[in-house]
Amino acid sequence: MAYENIIVDTRDDVATITLNRPDALNALNGDLLRELCTALEEADTSDKVRCIIITGSEKAFAAGADIAEMADKTFVDLYTTRFFENETDRFNRTRKPIIAAVAGYALGGGCELAMMCDFIIAADTAKFGQPEINLGVIAGLGGTQRLTRFVGKSKSMDMHLTGRFMDAAEAERSGLVSRVVPAKDLLGEARKAAVKIAAKSQIAAIAAKDAVNRAFETTLAEGLQYERRLFQSMFATDDQTEGMTAFLEKREAQFRDR
Ligand code: HXC
Repeated sequence: MAYENIIVDTRDDVATITLNRPDALNALNGDLLRELCTALEEADTSDKVRCIIITGSEKAFAAGADIAEMADKTFVDLYTTRFFENETDRFNRTRKPIIAAVAGYALGGGCELAMMCDFIIAADTAKFGQPEINLGVIAGLGGTQRLTRFVGKSKSMDMHLTGRFMDAAEAERSGLVSRVVPAKDLLGEARKAAVKIAAKSQIAAIAAKDAVNRAFETTLAEGLQYERRLFQSMFATDDQTEGMTAFLEKREAQFRDR
C-alpha cells in the first residue's frame, strides 16, 4: 500500500516503519496514525515480518499530536469521534514485537507512542517529555499511566507538571528506555535487535510479549498464574522440542513457528 506520512521498508524479516512528516517534526495527525495502524496490521499478518521497528528522523521521533489539527476541536468533537481511541486500540492489537528507535524529540503523543511499543532503544540525542501542560491540557494517549509505570510517581509527576524534557541518559537511568546508543548507530542497533528477535520462535516471542504486558494489567498472583499457563502451553509446540533438542545437540535451533 502507498503511504504519504510513513515509509515502510521490509527486509530480513523486519518491517521498519519510519514516521515521515519532516516539516512538522513528525507530529501525529489522524492520517499518519491511521497509516501507521494499517502498516502495523499488514506487518502483523505478513509471513515476511517477524519483528517491527518504528522510528522517526534524526531530529524527532515525533513532537506530539498535531497541535494545528487539534487546536480548533471542541470537547464534543473529541468525545463523539472517540479521538484517537480507535487508533490506539488498533496499535495495541499488534501481536508481533515492536521496537521504538528514538532519536531527537519524543514529546507528548510522541513519547506516548514510543511507550506503546514493546521497548525503546534511544539515540544519545533523544529527548522525552510530556509538555502538554504548556498547551493547557494533559497527556491523552496514555502518558500519565504508562510513564508512571516506567519511571515511578515522582519523576512522572515532575515531567507532567513542569513539562520538562528528559535526556537519553536520564531516560535509561530511570527505566524508560532499554538502552542508549550513539545516534549514528541507532537504526543499526535497532535492526540488530529486531533480527535477533526475528530468529526466535515467533510463538514464544508473542507469548513473552503477552505475558510481560499482563504484568501491567493484573495482580502478581494472577500474572504468575498467566505466565505459568503460557509456559506450560509452549510444550504443545514443535518449537519447544526443537529449541531444547538443539541445545542438547549443541546446534542452532531452526524454529518453524509450530
Ligand atoms: C504540530 C508541530 C508540532 C506539533 C512541531 N511542529 N511540533 N506542529 N504539532 N506537536 C512544527 C512547528 O510548528 C514548526 O512548523 C516545525 O514543526 C518545526 O518546529 P519548531 O518549533 O520550529 O522547531 P524547534 O524550534 O526546533 O522546536 C522543537 C520543539 C517544538 C521543541 C519540538 O516544536 C515544540 O515544542 N513542539 C510542540 C511539542 C508539544 O507540545 N507536544 C505535545 C503536543 S500535545 P513551521 O510550519 O512553523 O515550520 C499531545 C497530546 C497527545 O501530544 C494526546 C492525543 C490524544
